[in-house]
Amino acid sequence: MNAIEKIPATERYARAVQASKRVRWDIDKDVIRGRSFDAGHKFLPDGLSRADIFTTLSADEKRFVSQIQGRTYANIFGLVERFINAKVLELSHDHWFGDQVALEALIRFSDEEMKHQALFRRIDAMAGEVMPDGYRFDIDPNDVARAVLGKSTWAVLAITLDIELFTQLHYRESIDADTGLSALFKDVFLYHWKEESQHAILDELEWVRHDAEVTVEQRDRAVDEFIELVAAVDGILQAQAKADAGYFKATCGRMVDAAEARAIEAAFLKAYRWQYIHSGAQHPHFGKVLSGLITEKQGARIQAALATLH
Ligand SMILES: [Fe+2]
Ligand SMILES: [Fe+2]
Repeated sequence: MNAIEKIPATERYARAVQASKRVRWDIDKDVIRGRSFDAGHKFLPDGLSRADIFTTLSADEKRFVSQIQGRTYANIFGLVERFINAKVLELSHDHWFGDQVALEALIRFSDEEMKHQALFRRIDAMAGEVMPDGYRFDIDPNDVARAVLGKSTWAVLAITLDIELFTQLHYRESIDADTGLSALFKDVFLYHWKEESQHAILDELEWVRHDAEVTVEQRDRAVDEFIELVAAVDGILQAQAKADAGYFKATCGRMVDAAEARAIEAAFLKAYRWQYIHSGAQHPHFGKVLSGLITEKQGARIQAALATLH
């Protein structure tokens, strides 16, 4: 146990509230500040867009790929935050007549996710202003949220902690000395990270609290549901990799033959799996919390499922 884990849960909720108040930001005043995107800048850093695996593309084309991925980044976050917010509102019920500090922490969490979704809608629209027509993101966040919330709370909290931890890693990637990165997109990473840091703490608190209430059988079923949720995320990533590779091919201004088109789609998928699945699954803290709740056999089941997504 480290020092942080010795702090009682009530105190941790209270600290999350304090931090949330301290870092609170405004979309226009703090993040956008009257700026717009510039097609000469990358939106995602090379480490996230996996520029290295798009081996057939020129530097300019890789920059365009980072812009496509940046726009998809905004759309994917807008999508996952729909179900995260719904689950947080549902969990807040447990605190209505209990720990009012925990309730306040979850209300702020929910309010922040509403704001983040609004930010990501703005980013999508602003990216559209400097990108050629034809970009598509056809997955409905409400349909996804309905399907996700059909799974057990244990499973939804597992994937939520995974997601909210990888935003921290994404921020760290973005502050790397990646030349040519959009200052505005860099700020999106920075400001999102500031509030997501509290969310990850709350996910963990809620997950551990909820875990204490489930039976051994329920938990075992929830492990399978977590695997199903990861597979569902992968289905979304496969569809979007196909859409984004098609958009690149249609708008890059040169001929792309069938073999190269397949390689580009595969690279998009690999990049998205890194961004939205493996960067979280490999996060040391996620591994630590997860392994504290499950058996070795259940852990092996999860690892085997993740290994198929390469
Ligand atoms: Fe968020
Ligand atoms: Fe969040």
